[in-house]
Amino acid sequence: MGEVSDDNSNLSFLKRIATSDVPLLKEYGVNGVVVALLLAVVTPVLLSMMFGKKTKQRAVRANVGGEEGFAMRNSRFSSLVEVPWEGATTMSALFEMASKKYSRRRCLGTRKLIKREFVESSDGRKFEKLHLGEYEWDTYAEAFNRACNFASGLVKMGHDLDSHAAIFSDTRAEWIIAAQGCFRQNLTVVTIYASLGEDALVHSLNETQVSTLICDSKQLKKIPAISSKLQSLRHIIYIEDEPVEAETLNQVKHLTTLSFTEVEELGKTSSVDARLPSSSDTAVIMYTSGSTGLPKGVMITHGNMVATTAAVMTIVPKLGMNDVYLAYLPLAHVFELAGETVMLASGTAIGYGSTLTMTDTSNKIKKGTKGDVSVLNPTLIISVPAILDRIRDAVFKKVGEKGGLTKKLFDFAYKRNLASIEGSWFGSWAPERMIWDTIIYKPIRAMLGGRVRFVLCGGAPLSGDTQRFMNICLGVPVGQGYGLTETCAGAAFTEWDDTSVGRVGPPLPCCYVKLVSWEEGGYKISDYPMPRGEVVVGGHSITKGYFSNEAKTNEVYKVDERGIRWFYTGDIGQFHPDGCLEIIDRKKDIVKLQHGEYVSLGKVESALATSSYVESIMVYADPFHNYCVALVVPVRQALEKWAQNSGINCEGFEELCQNGQAVKEVQQSLSKAAKAARLERFEVPAKIELLPEPWTPESGLVTAALKLKREQIKAKFKDDLDKLYH
Ligand SMILES: *[C@@H]1O[C@H](CO)[C@@H](O)[C@H](O)[C@H]1NC(C)=O
Ligand SMILES: *[C@@H]1O[C@H](CO)[C@@H](O)[C@H](O)[C@H]1NC(C)=O
Repeated sequence: MGEVSDDNSNLSFLKRIATSDVPLLKEYGVNGVVVALLLAVVTPVLLSMMFGKKTKQRAVRANVGGEEGFAMRNSRFSSLVEVPWEGATTMSALFEMASKKYSRRRCLGTRKLIKREFVESSDGRKFEKLHLGEYEWDTYAEAFNRACNFASGLVKMGHDLDSHAAIFSDTRAEWIIAAQGCFRQNLTVVTIYASLGEDALVHSLNETQVSTLICDSKQLKKIPAISSKLQSLRHIIYIEDEPVEAETLNQVKHLTTLSFTEVEELGKTSSVDARLPSSSDTAVIMYTSGSTGLPKGVMITHGNMVATTAAVMTIVPKLGMNDVYLAYLPLAHVFELAGETVMLASGTAIGYGSTLTMTDTSNKIKKGTKGDVSVLNPTLIISVPAILDRIRDAVFKKVGEKGGLTKKLFDFAYKRNLASIEGSWFGSWAPERMIWDTIIYKPIRAMLGGRVRFVLCGGAPLSGDTQRFMNICLGVPVGQGYGLTETCAGAAFTEWDDTSVGRVGPPLPCCYVKLVSWEEGGYKISDYPMPRGEVVVGGHSITKGYFSNEAKTNEVYKVDERGIRWFYTGDIGQFHPDGCLEIIDRKKDIVKLQHGEYVSLGKVESALATSSYVESIMVYADPFHNYCVALVVPVRQALEKWAQNSGINCEGFEELCQNGQAVKEVQQSLSKAAKAARLERFEVPAKIELLPEPWTPESGLVTAALKLKREQIKAKFKDDLDKLYH
């Protein structure tokens, strides 16, 4: 049965209808339509009263060895899943079997380039515009053949089979073909996030002694400047996605350099026997952008990848056959690599795109021609929260600009549908939703091609507002994933019928999730009402560790007496009664002040960010003091408007940020936000500094997913922070 308080509100509402509204309407002779409308509202209320909301058990306690903790596993399976189907124990076996199973289906699609042109803006800068045509497809059988040819070509080219190959390229079909080619020769593929700087690139290629580099034309241009530092590099294979300049090739002529097509041709004419890997061999060494120091290479085995794949395949309902997937996130990110492997395993068509060509109005799309989603009409997309936030903001902004009736109607429909998702009596009713769909949401849905039926989201926590926006305006469930490179993407994933927000779902069926008490930080598995502690993940998806860094590996990976491998994530979580995990904090971001109070920087920041003056904020706590401070990038418009209204004259924004009254105004607003969030006194920054320059991924102060890079910010504003403590 439903909760008591709900029933009461439903009942009082019914009473109101029964006593006053109905006779009133009758008097005016309004008939059929009103009765139907009433029924439409009353029936769901009655139904929900009769059946109530039963909470589904999504995970169950697991009794697994090792350190004491509160462990859960997915309730849909009685033991952990390890492979998508029998025999698919490695990435290469999975692809080979899929290519036989789905041989004639569309596999990898790339848009035909019709024309590349440059337009000049009024200030003389040149912008590239692309006119792209339809998707051209390789079938599963063709894609598999290309991978085999590439594997043979690589050997014929002279690649030393005892050394590693690296892929340094944007997401595209050749990426998957090259990776699968390498797997067929039991080669480990080193991947590097394309946005990492030069130092990180040199570090990664040098640390793994890469001898063959597979790159796209954009990355090829970076090689001449660093090739003298890459002692182990012998071969370069470049993808001709753009015309490659002779000058660039000339600068790397001391290396064997072939185009991707040449390597495939080479392999076609003389094939080499495959040297297939085993499940425990390392498939990928993945270098990711850490928030501190040089990147670390995570060693992911074939077994890890197929386990995550098997688990995620059980998440998306009716996956396969009719699905089309838009691939555009970096493949050097484990989340996208796992996503595409899931698509390959299920016979889904993968169409490649990019953030710059995604919609009809994207930057690189020639005016009047179509973006990737309009041509592909995907049914599945993967996203990161930052991108979904942007879509939401764009839609709300547009509606706000239109104003008037459009906005009223939009707001009304939004409220009704929100209530319906949240199970309140005010919720809209199916036939009504169809009307809203047609008049309001269809144009919004068209932004993503109009056929999307499931959105997978991961990489960072998704805000509840944005999740609801996607549910309502796109009419699709959003599956939120939680995982790290070290856990091969998979750790927890919300199930498609779970409409709650802010949680990351039960453990994926390939692993256990355990909470381990962190006494020092005040999080214990005996906490009430929910067990809390550090999130520790164990099972088939736990990777081998960091390449050539045993000390760090031993610090965060442990094997228990039953042989289960565990990874200590450093995140703090709690388990809801239905077995869903919620991430509530991060160990690293909790600082103990001089008098022993703990400040959770992330918690304080998200509370203070609700102030309308805050664009970005970093709270800093020095353990040798008893208060914390904050660096704030103010919302320029808001602060300037305040200055204008208060009659404060400043030469530009920079000076305004120095202005004592402005600082005071922002600080007051922060205090208000802190009060609303019921922060403790020691959690409220005692002093702040306003910074005029925004923090962007390009500035290196935040990650691509807009997470703060604390170490970098601390280093850059060291003097400012010192000043705040004096
Ligand atoms: C490359 O690695 C070797 C050790 O393997 C080290 O001695 C050398 O300094 C590194 N070079 C660069 C440019 O990082
Ligand atoms: C694959 O290569 C690794 C590293 O060279 C090696 O240890 C392993 O035995 C190879 N696997 C097979 C099945 O030959």
